[in-house]
Amino acid sequence: MNAAIRSVVRTALDLDMSVVGFKRGYNGLLMRSKDQNDDFEILTARSVSDKIHRGGTFLMTARCLEFLEPETQRQALKNLRALGIEGLVCIGGDGTYKGAQALNDLGFPTVGVPGTIDNDLAYTDFTIGFDTALNTACECLNRIRETSDSHERASMITVMGRNCGDIALNTALACGAEIVMVPEKPWSLEEVAERVKWGVLRGKRSILIIFAEGALSSLTSDLAAICARYENLKDISVRHVTSSQIAMIIEALSGHETRSTVLGYIQRGGSPSARDRLLAIRLGAYAVELLHRDISGVAVGERGLKPVHVPFEDVQKGTHAVDEGLSQLIDVMAVMTRK
Ligand code: F6P
Repeated sequence: MNAAIRSVVRTALDLDMSVVGFKRGYNGLLMRSKDQNDDFEILTARSVSDKIHRGGTFLMTARCLEFLEPETQRQALKNLRALGIEGLVCIGGDGTYKGAQALNDLGFPTVGVPGTIDNDLAYTDFTIGFDTALNTACECLNRIRETSDSHERASMITVMGRNCGDIALNTALACGAEIVMVPEKPWSLEEVAERVKWGVLRGKRSILIIFAEGALSSLTSDLAAICARYENLKDISVRHVTSSQIAMIIEALSGHETRSTVLGYIQRGGSPSARDRLLAIRLGAYAVELLHRDISGVAVGERGLKPVHVPFEDVQKGTHAVDEGLSQLIDVMAVMTRK
C-alpha cells in the first residue's frame, strides 16, 4: 500500500494537484480524533520518501463498519467538502470499494485501487499485496518442507485469502504441495486422507497440504460422524473446528502423522516484492489520471498487463473462479495423478 500511496502522491503533484492522506481508512474521513493531525495530513513528495520498500501502510488502516451507514457517509462527505477535497483514491478490497461506491453515488468522485493480499476481485488479474503474500507463504513452506521431510510427516499449512483460494493454489503450485483445499471447490476429508496414503505409498517423505482459511465452507464430509468414530476426536466441536483439529482428523483417517501450521498475519507484512511495487505504481498513477480526466465511480486494475477500469458495481464480474488448469498442474507437478 505504501508504494501505491507514493505513486498517487507523486502523480498528483506532477499534475499540479495537492494531496491529503487520510489515516486509518474511512475512520480518518470522520475526523473524530482529539487531535485533527491524527486524522489526516498533507502529503508532499517528501512525505512518501523512503516508503516504497516498506510493508504495511504509513497512513495506517482500520476497518470501519459504520461506514456502511448512509448517515456516516454523509458526515464524511461534509468533512471532505469542508476541507476542499475534490476527489478520493481509495485503496483496499471489497469493503473499501463499497464505501467508495457510496461516496461516489452521493456525488463525490472516487476511484478504487485494489489493495488486498486475497486477490479476490474478479475484474483484475492481480491485487496489490498478493504477490508479496505468496512469496512469504512460499518461503515459510520451504522451511516446513524440510522438517516434514526429515520427520517423514504430512504438514497442513493454513494460508489466508478469506473466501478466495488464490493464495492457496498458487502457493501449492510454487512449492510442490501434494494437496490443496480451497473454498471454491468441494472437497472431503476422506479424499484428502486417501491422497495422503497414496503419497506415502509412492514413497513421498513429506506431504504438504495447503488449506485455504475459507476452505471449510466447501467441505462435503460429515464431520460429526467422522469425529464420533475416533476416541481422540470426540471432543471436537464441529461448529468451531480449528486447523489443528482438521490436521488431527486427517491423521486419524490416513494413519499418517500430520502436523498443522497456521501462517496468519506473517503473510501481511514484509517488504513488498518487485512485482507488487510495480503494480502499485502503475495502478496508483492510473487512478489519479482517471480522476484528473473526471472519470470516477470506477476501480482500476490490470487484465493481461493492460490497465482497466470498471464501475464499482462490476468488480466481481469476470472469471476469477478457481482455475481448473492450475489444480491439475498441482497434481501433475506433485506426481499425484492416479496413473
Ligand atoms: O483481507 C485480507 C485478510 O488478511 C484476509 O486474508 C483475512 O481473512 C482477513 O484479512 C483478516 O482480517 P483481520 O485483519 O481483521 O483479522
